[in-house]
Amino acid sequence: MKGIIFTEFLEMVEDRFGYEVVDGIIEASGDPEDGAYTAVNTYDHQQLVKLVVALHQRSGIPLRDLLITYGRHLFGQLAGTYPSFLEGVEDPFDLLLNIETLIHTEVRKLYPEANPPKFNGKRIDDDSLELTYESHRSMADVAEGLMYGCADHYGYQFEIEQLSLSEDGSIVQFKVKKIRT
Ligand code: HEM
Repeated sequence: MKGIIFTEFLEMVEDRFGYEVVDGIIEASGDPEDGAYTAVNTYDHQQLVKLVVALHQRSGIPLRDLLITYGRHLFGQLAGTYPSFLEGVEDPFDLLLNIETLIHTEVRKLYPEANPPKFNGKRIDDDSLELTYESHRSMADVAEGLMYGCADHYGYQFEIEQLSLSEDGSIVQFKVKKIRT
């Protein structure tokens, strides 16, 4: 998986928990890179899982909460790094329903070795949609966090439900609702 996914994770840990915790989880997870990730290089996604698990063990914060917080942070960072992907998209549902064409297809063109997850969505009504996530990496909680980050970006609030469609978490259906405030 691309290094940007790792560098943003470590940056978030540094911001929220400090240097010492970054060092601690790098050591506890036996990180072969010793934390020295480069955004454009490619690394084994299992190492990210190990870093998150180490943070969970050290902080006592539930894994799901960490993954969602991370995904939420990641959206803002990705949107800032690749603003052209979001150009002309005015509504968060238009983005979520077109992740494939607007974003991840472009990511594959830029980085042929990247293998981002697949999304298939359909609008249910003005305020709700269904989105199916598919990836052997089983990172649906990060995807949920990215959706909250997408809502933040457009000044919305979402209510999201997850329904696992496979035992290993590789296929997950989301129901996303815009909350009127
Ligand atoms: C500007 C917006 C976005 C950019 C530039 C972007 C780019 C990327 C990149 C570069 C990766 C790493 C893929 C690899 O190395 O194989 C990735 C992974 C991922 N993306 Fe996106 N993405 C964006 C938005 C989203 C959104 C809105 C979602 C979900 C709603 C999403 C879901 C994911 C997930 C869950 C992963 C982790 C890998 C996996 O589950 O297989 N992304 N994305």
